Amino acid sequence: MKKTALVTGILGQDGPYLAKLLLENDYKVFGLVRRYSNPNFSNLEYLGLMNKIEFVEGDLTDESSLINIVKNTRPEEIYNLAAQSFVGGSWDQAKLTTEVNAVGVLFLLNTIKFFSPITRFYQASTSEMFGLGNTNGFQDENTPFHPRSPYGVSKVYAYWMTVNFRESFGLFTCNGILFNHESPIRGIQFVTRKITDGVARIKLGLAKELRLGNLESRRDWGFAGDYVEAMYLMLQQKNPDDYVVGTGENHSVGEFVEKAFLVAGINDWKKYVTIDPRFKRPAEVPNLKAKPDKAQKVLGWKKKTSFDALVKMMVEADLKRLKSVKIS
Ligand code: NAP
Ligand code: GDD
Repeated sequence: MKKTALVTGILGQDGPYLAKLLLENDYKVFGLVRRYSNPNFSNLEYLGLMNKIEFVEGDLTDESSLINIVKNTRPEEIYNLAAQSFVGGSWDQAKLTTEVNAVGVLFLLNTIKFFSPITRFYQASTSEMFGLGNTNGFQDENTPFHPRSPYGVSKVYAYWMTVNFRESFGLFTCNGILFNHESPIRGIQFVTRKITDGVARIKLGLAKELRLGNLESRRDWGFAGDYVEAMYLMLQQKNPDDYVVGTGENHSVGEFVEKAFLVAGINDWKKYVTIDPRFKRPAEVPNLKAKPDKAQKVLGWKKKTSFDALVKMMVEADLKRLKSVKIS
């Protein structure tokens, strides 16, 4: 018998990579999608997964839709990847961010508790929860949280609810505290993809400049395809637990920019980059760097893709995409 999994956020960046991994492990995958006038399946198409997922319609802010889905599909595993995930937008949409990222998780946990308590649950927690916690060094499972955005605050609530349902009701619930992970299907608002798309446009003569905010902040960037393996492994353990997942090295936004221009064969990147205060944040997270020792030791998880390989993969994918659009 195939195992069954429900993946929320199936149309985002991580959803398709996780679905691919689950399908390779012979799962039946249900993907939760919202009701759309014009649905965008391009990330699933990019990974060749259309027609391999069974879509179920619902919304994290609508508890009854979650109850119906769980009762009808009875998944053995739920991966909750759905979120208003853009930190920069979370100040302007703090209520929506809270409803989806915090209350939505409570709805899912309640649904599991009342209707399917054997279901194993993965919560997409984040290094944004650390915020100013130990910014001089690295962050691990013992680092205190000091979130700096409504997004970070909403995720701290969800983190603790996930822990609380484990401790209170004995549910198999896990937090993956993932550091930034990227790919060619990363949303265009996030800085890495904005950079690689911008660099490709400049290279192809489609744009003259790239407007960015804070070039000083440092992130621990890895490849999304590697990180979904950690999500999967967490739900295969004997006991539920929480894990930090990252590469253990970090780079500034400026370094990412420089490297991306170099991949495109452009040495003088400063000629093309303009600092635009509109892209700076009311409160910044200056320095994230994971210490993923627990994930390595317990899950046997390790990053496979280097920083250089990630930047190259993303720039080359954007060049290829834009060239094909230009020709057609
Ligand atoms: P993403 O590309 O923004 O995808 C998020 C998905 O959530 C989208 O498909 C979106 O649906 C869906 N969604 C939003 N609101 C919803 C709602 N009310 N009901 C149902 N679905 C909803 O994010 P990602 O990069 O794949 O990240 C996956 C998860 O990991 C997120 O929870 C994020 O916060 C967390 N995380 C990400 C990173 C990272 O670096 N990528 C690091 C740590 C944690 P639409 O397609 O309809 O918009
Ligand atoms: N988006 C964006 N756009 N960020 C910029 C820009 C710009 O023009 N210029 C500089 N930055 C800086 C931001 O201020 C931040 O310090 C850094 O680039 C990374 O920004 P994002 O790529 O938007 O990601 P994030 O780190 O805020 O959040 C991502 O990673 C989190 C994990 O740490 C998201 O994926 C979150 O959902 C995730 O939880």
